[in-house]
Amino acid sequence: MKQTLLLLPGDGIGPEVCAEARRVAEALVPDILIEEGLVGGASLDAHGVPLTEETLTRARQASAVLLGAVGGPKWAAAARDKRPEAGLLSLRKGMDVFANLRPAYCFPALAEASSLKPDRVEGLDLMIVRELTGGVYFGTPRGIDEAGGLRRGYDTAIYTHPEVERIARTAFEVARGRKARVCSVEKSNVMESGLFWRQEVTLAHAEFGGGVELTHMYADACAMELVRQPKQFDVILADNLFGDLISDEAAMLTGSIGMLPSASLGAPGMPGLFEPVHGSAPDIAGQGIANPCAAILSLEMALRWSLGKEKAADALFAAVGKALDRGARTRDLGGALTTPQMTDAILAAL
Ligand code: NAD
Ligand code: IPM
Ligand code: MN
Repeated sequence: MKQTLLLLPGDGIGPEVCAEARRVAEALVPDILIEEGLVGGASLDAHGVPLTEETLTRARQASAVLLGAVGGPKWAAAARDKRPEAGLLSLRKGMDVFANLRPAYCFPALAEASSLKPDRVEGLDLMIVRELTGGVYFGTPRGIDEAGGLRRGYDTAIYTHPEVERIARTAFEVARGRKARVCSVEKSNVMESGLFWRQEVTLAHAEFGGGVELTHMYADACAMELVRQPKQFDVILADNLFGDLISDEAAMLTGSIGMLPSASLGAPGMPGLFEPVHGSAPDIAGQGIANPCAAILSLEMALRWSLGKEKAADALFAAVGKALDRGARTRDLGGALTTPQMTDAILAAL
């Protein structure tokens, strides 16, 4: 049976960068069947919900899912459960993709494009392993209401033993294929859920059976260390919220948030969800200037982590590096190439 890649372009620059990833897929792995569906604001406009049951079912049955981005000012006033972002969260939860891998890799040609001094980021290669289906993003109770005459807003940061155990094990496994160092971050100095996280990660590490070094750091200190000496890290293990924050921060180390891909993985054999770390970028949507690299590198991660096409993934990764070496740059990287032109440069290097 043919492998299927479900494209969910979404909103804003999502469709622009997904179209480029599609061109690359068609050229590189023509045997894979590509399908498309709606998510986010696009789905809300068409069906009244940001994710339909049908799309979730198709996502679960695909070999891999590649998503562009969701959200935008048009839907910012929608009720929480109708917001485009809610569709993305339901997709992650519904696919049970609990492990979000966000690699911050500085391509040699882009060391100058980072907001940090080149010597800080040259050779940078770190992996953030972010828990994606739990924590304060999903904890209950949550709400905005009134108690004792006072209006209040609240969320619940909660993790269970199996949730921390499985993401910790994933981080150790990922580290084993790299430099075998995991730094787990939380706020155990302030939060009970943070202390629990540290205890559970320590237990999971003892059970893992050696070969991987584990250290702990407070999340605020990690945010600082990421811009001081980012190359000290190999794998950073973080909960849903801290992982979200530090991955945007790490993006800037690589030159632009337009460079950062991600892979969200569940149980072995289940389809992964692949998406750029960036959002729908309403400020540049429709102008044809978005950097397609994060989407194209998300395709690269899909080939590697879900589709069993490592050679194609290696070739694509090398082609992105080569295109950058040859000077190909979109505006966010200080260049003038349009979105399709950037892809042309990558295809030419393939
Ligand atoms: P954003 O990532 O969309 O944009 C932040 C800045 O980075 C903007 O200046 C934008 O122009 C720039 N940028 C982002 N991607 C780029 C690319 N590929 N090429 C060039 N420049 C790029 O974040 P935001 O503005 O905070 O959020 C906008 C919307 O996207 C919100 O509705 C938010 O909820 C949503 N969002 C969605 C996802 C997702 O779908 N995975 C991720 C983050 C934010
Ligand atoms: C991300 C985004 C999402 C998140 C939003 C859009 C729900 O910021 O993928 O990093 O917070 O996880
Ligand atoms: Mn984010």
